[in-house]
Amino acid sequence: MRKLIIGLAALAICVLGVASVNMESKAAGADWTMSPVKAVERYKEKGSLHSPYEKDYEKYAEEGHQLYMGLSCNGCHGGGGGGGMCPPLTNSVWVYGSDDDTLFRLVTEGSAGLQEHYDMKRVGSENVVGPMPAMGSSIKTADDLWKIIAWIRSINPSSIPGGKSNVPPPPTFD
Ligand code: HEC
Repeated sequence: MRKLIIGLAALAICVLGVASVNMESKAAGADWTMSPVKAVERYKEKGSLHSPYEKDYEKYAEEGHQLYMGLSCNGCHGGGGGGGMCPPLTNSVWVYGSDDDTLFRLVTEGSAGLQEHYDMKRVGSENVVGPMPAMGSSIKTADDLWKIIAWIRSINPSSIPGGKSNVPPPPTFD
């Protein structure tokens, strides 16, 4: 009888253990092997996308930078993200905000997508104002995009609450 009770208890612990592992992976959003386009369809609600690299973004920054160059984001934003034809990613101005969800949707769906699908407006004002193209279909996986965002965070601490940019904001002429 005693053995049976111990056996049942062990079984219960096993079942609970498996259940909690499952819940954990769900809570973390887990599978980012889907394309960014699929990811914004699946996590439709604004605010529901969270980077798996929120804490250890420095670790993935280099890989993210390579992806950024490979996708020619540098043609518009410069190799170091300092801008050029288009707004810099290094200063403290964030056109729509700098949280995970906003940056993921902006890069995937472009300015037009952000404005049409989520009713977002420009809140930050950069020197250069223009539309960002939807890049989602050129990026293989959502994981790749999270790595690019990890690199942006590494070059610009102002993208993280409480962090400051090392680059001055654009001058205003009014
Ligand atoms: C054709 C030029 C162009 C390309 C290519 C491009 N961008 Fe942009 N990007 C822009 C413009 C213009 C804006 C400003 C959008 C607005 O004001 O609506 C912008 C905005 C951004 C922002 C927000 C910056 C801020 O200050 O708030 C991020 C982040 C960004 N782009 C990342 C990327 C990444 C990553 C890629 C490559 C996958 C990329 N961009 C490719 C033109 C481009």
